[in-house]
Amino acid sequence: MLRSTYRVLRSPFRDFPRWAARYGDPFTIPTVNGTVVITGDPELIKVIFSADPEIYGPWAVNALGPTLGQRSIFMLEGAPHTRERKLLAPPLHGDRMRAYADVIAKVARRRFAERVESSRVLTLELAQGISLEVITRAIFGARDDESARALQAAVIDLVEASSPLMFFMPFLQREFAGLGPWARFRRRFVALDALLQQQIDRARRSPGVDVCSLLAQATYEDGESMPDAAIRDELRTMLFAGHETTAITIAWAIELLHRHPDALARVHAELEALGPDPDPEAIARLEYLDAVCKEAMRLYPVVTEVLRVLHAPLRLGPVEVPAGVGVSASVMLAHRREELYPDAETFRPERFLERRFSPFEYLPFGGGHRRCIGAAFASFEMKIVLGVALSRHRLTLLDDGPATPVRRNVTMAPGGGVPIRVRDR
Ligand code: HEM
Repeated sequence: MLRSTYRVLRSPFRDFPRWAARYGDPFTIPTVNGTVVITGDPELIKVIFSADPEIYGPWAVNALGPTLGQRSIFMLEGAPHTRERKLLAPPLHGDRMRAYADVIAKVARRRFAERVESSRVLTLELAQGISLEVITRAIFGARDDESARALQAAVIDLVEASSPLMFFMPFLQREFAGLGPWARFRRRFVALDALLQQQIDRARRSPGVDVCSLLAQATYEDGESMPDAAIRDELRTMLFAGHETTAITIAWAIELLHRHPDALARVHAELEALGPDPDPEAIARLEYLDAVCKEAMRLYPVVTEVLRVLHAPLRLGPVEVPAGVGVSASVMLAHRREELYPDAETFRPERFLERRFSPFEYLPFGGGHRRCIGAAFASFEMKIVLGVALSRHRLTLLDDGPATPVRRNVTMAPGGGVPIRVRDR
């Protein structure tokens, strides 16, 4: 069990296709969090995503509780989960989301320009800096540089004080006279919360267009407004769900584009057709750039498995999966099916211009009742960041060979962080 958990965590890109070939699809693996039945077959993924939400609970979320808080959407299920999604989703879509275009472009312009003289820049670090600043401004609602910087510093401090070991082993969650890793984590948690509370207080006094302001004004269907503690939990949730994931995808897209000069040339042509210093919203509408982001997430989905735990039995093809067992829609296996994606190991963005894929064939953001609520926002941000960077700069990869995926907590990121040099075009 420890061995299979280790392999699930360490090398899903290598081991999952082997297990599916050896045992058939679906296949079952024991993990320290319980048994999981895994499928990459779109027919069975459809069964998972279309089943009644009431039969599911979230998978192994206890470890997330200390960081996200008990009111986080990740911790909820059933009716309270549906109720929460109705409030959280609107600020991240449509016109409300498009209002963040300039913020994203401004942050990306400044952060890339700052690195022009550096001899070596890690794309992943640069992209993380951008996505964190975008979150502090567009989601937390920081309106000046000073509060944006304070929020970013508090997040970085909290991340530094977090250790997966501590979260998975509740007996380590003890303060020893205010000392030890748990006490340090709690101090930093409280410090970030105090800053988030300041944002909420300001949003209640003079609302802006940021997500925090929109949540502070929103009401549930019964007319009740969101309590401050719930807003703080959801702001932290959006930070942890959206910060690293978006940055990793940007880093993959830069790596893959620069190893495929034809694709890069096509993106440059699209950007040049928009004229000098293109409008960020126009960048976000570019078709080929959109296909590039989709293809990067197809080949290297940041989250390789979408997991749920069953409260009631579910028939998955030949297998009757009992209650208490986990089911997983394998993003990675679905995305590498040759009959859907010919030459599946190859980066070829054109495939997204040639045909449409169903939500059970292409699922980088999961699916069904828990599909990522930040999907539109993340895609919008990725395209603007890439468009700004590539229209202003010439990027050179510094590693000889392609990056391979390595695990970072729940996500898979390009190993080595994609070192580059940034020069003006
Ligand atoms: C490339 C970037 C991103 C990727 C690949 C990604 C991927 C995912 C995946 C796979 C899930 C689980 C879906 C499921 O269980 O079916 C998820 C859930 C979620 N994501 Fe994202 N995400 C990204 C960005 C974001 C952003 C920017 C935000 C918020 C600003 C966000 C907020 C959330 C939330 C709140 C959930 C939980 C939804 C629920 O349980 O109902 N994500 N994401």
